[in-house]
Amino acid sequence: MTWDELADRLRESGALSADWEETFRALPRDRFTPARIHHGGEWIDFETSPARWSELAASDLPLATQLYEGTETPSSSSSMPTVVATMLRHLDVADGMRVLDVGTGTGWTAGLLSHRLGPDNVVTIEVDPKLRATTRSPTATDRAPGCLCPLGAEAPPLQLSPKGSPLPAQHNIESERELWDTYASGIKDNVFDAGPVFRWTQYADHGPGPELLGAPTSALEIGCGTGRAMATLAEQGVKVTGVDLSPVMVDKVAERWGPSGVQIHCAEVLDYLSGTDETWDAIYSMFGAVWFTDPLKLFPLIAARLNPGGVLVFSQPPAIPGAYGPQGMYKGGFAGRALYTYRYSYTPRRWASLLLRSGFESAEAGVLDAPTEGHIGTLIVAARTSTA
Ligand SMILES: C[S@@+](CC[C@H](N)C(=O)[O-])C[C@H]1O[C@@H](n2cnc3c(N)ncnc32)[C@H](O)[C@@H]1O
Repeated sequence: MTWDELADRLRESGALSADWEETFRALPRDRFTPARIHHGGEWIDFETSPARWSELAASDLPLATQLYEGTETPSSSSSMPTVVATMLRHLDVADGMRVLDVGTGTGWTAGLLSHRLGPDNVVTIEVDPKLRATTRSPTATDRAPGCLCPLGAEAPPLQLSPKGSPLPAQHNIESERELWDTYASGIKDNVFDAGPVFRWTQYADHGPGPELLGAPTSALEIGCGTGRAMATLAEQGVKVTGVDLSPVMVDKVAERWGPSGVQIHCAEVLDYLSGTDETWDAIYSMFGAVWFTDPLKLFPLIAARLNPGGVLVFSQPPAIPGAYGPQGMYKGGFAGRALYTYRYSYTPRRWASLLLRSGFESAEAGVLDAPTEGHIGTLIVAARTSTA
């Protein structure tokens, strides 16, 4: 079961009220679940059993996250989603209210409250120093963008304030579309007039080519930009579709590459993938939509739209060390209208984990060095769905 399917069920059962639905869907429990959970008499570790761990995190079960020493009795757990949704419904909060959350645990409830009411309106307290330590571990923080920690080990026990805590990225698609329209308008005509070119990296004549996609009959490029990579595939007889957020870009691509048989749609990638029945042998992104979209939302949609044994390949700049998750980026300097987007950055290992827990059977990620030593390399990630 996916998190959205669980949310559907809780809406149907009445546990989840309409006013909590958006927040509940936006903050899946897995973002707050520690790397190890205890279930059915055994510890399940995200690193070694990502599929089982993800299945449990998206289930309607309570998950023990800590046991009393030498026993199998939980001393802390992540509550059953039905119970959390019901409790929040009964809490009957309204905008502007302030809430004290007593017993942070994994921080999920506090995260939900913080998302709904704003971080300044929620204070959460936790008496157990070990739990506070777990929540602020780098792994858990990476997994939990809405996490309300960190708290220094030396801090007094009853002060886990969410002030200044990160909230999930708040995409404003209209503003992002305008940003990309400005970008598209700035691309010189000679780039569109130039011939097909297919390259995963930012450097000419460097790195692998279309062979990373295997030998697809059909392919979809998400965030296709100028469309020159699609034109390369179309020349090879592949049935190619592109999707891009920017109407300016899409008009230019349709005019330039439409006659070559390239199909192009103007849409936001999550909307497009959730609204189509079509499937492809390969889906790819070159510094494209994968870079700018929440992978927890995007990857399951891509996995569902790939044919059995289909591949996802994407490339983009590697993360800057220590800067992981959504990275906000203003368009064109720091004066003028606030047009911004988010770029998602993770380590290769984390990209692979995200893919494996989103329905892919295998995933490989690595950084290809630049042609010049010390220059920025290219992250290249490839994942495959099962052939069954
Ligand atoms: C940096 S460009 C790279 C495009 C392409 N690889 C090229 O070489 O021209 C990123 C593209 O992704 C598109 N894009 C960004 N966010 C998107 C989203 N959420 N859905 C669809 N397209 C998106 C932008 O409009 C832009 O054309």
